[in-house]
Amino acid sequence: MGFAMIWRATILTLFPDMFPGPLGVSLAGKALASGLWALEARDIRDSATDRHRSVDDTPAGGGPGMVLRADVLAAAIDAADAGQSRPRFLMSPRGRPLTQSRVMELAAGPGPLIVCGRFEGIDERVIAARGLEEVSIGDYVLSGGEVAAMVLVDACVRLLPGVMGRQASRTEESFSEGLLEYPQYTRPQEFEGRTIPEILVSGDHAKVAAWRQAEAEALTKARRPDLWAIKTSQKSPQKRPKSTTDG
Ligand code: ADE
Repeated sequence: MGFAMIWRATILTLFPDMFPGPLGVSLAGKALASGLWALEARDIRDSATDRHRSVDDTPAGGGPGMVLRADVLAAAIDAADAGQSRPRFLMSPRGRPLTQSRVMELAAGPGPLIVCGRFEGIDERVIAARGLEEVSIGDYVLSGGEVAAMVLVDACVRLLPGVMGRQASRTEESFSEGLLEYPQYTRPQEFEGRTIPEILVSGDHAKVAAWRQAEAEALTKARRPDLWAIKTSQKSPQKRPKSTTDG
């Protein structure tokens, strides 16, 4: 049996020039350059077979726009993923919403193959024929799946060993605990008449921790009642008796 394989994202797109894009700078970019992960952007058009290298056609049943052909996309997937078993995604606003727990699973695996949709969509038959799982990054419509694919890959890459160090684990723990992040401050002590909360400069670590927990809870209740409902329905040793009366 072999050596550990590097985490690799394979992107199938009609616009391979969009990559690495934002994934080529900052922490993800440094990690990419130093070989901590790999990115392979493949042009779907390379799998076209006709003289004009066409990849799309008019929708069956009529209507506006163009649809990506099943045969061309299937050939592109087969060429990219011969004999490999790894998650295969289609970025689509129709998909299941991406979550941090799914991101953590993906980061622990070999890395996904991601199909980026364009036009009005792709031929439905290729989704089942090649086992594509549709994934959405939110309830809004992008002009194509490329930016969504970058979001998915970025969220995974920052979790790979050696990419972020300790900073990642802190925010990760917080989000996986189901709370939004507490507010942060740094110098200067006074900014346009606004000061840093007294407790944070008191040096009392227990009080600081309690203040941060309370702020995180207040933010979550106010902005994300959906997350707060999940949080308070879970059994947790951290759960304070107060939360049973103030809901
Ligand atoms: N493609 C277009 N919109 C999208 C979305 N919201 N999520 C994932 N892929 C998309």
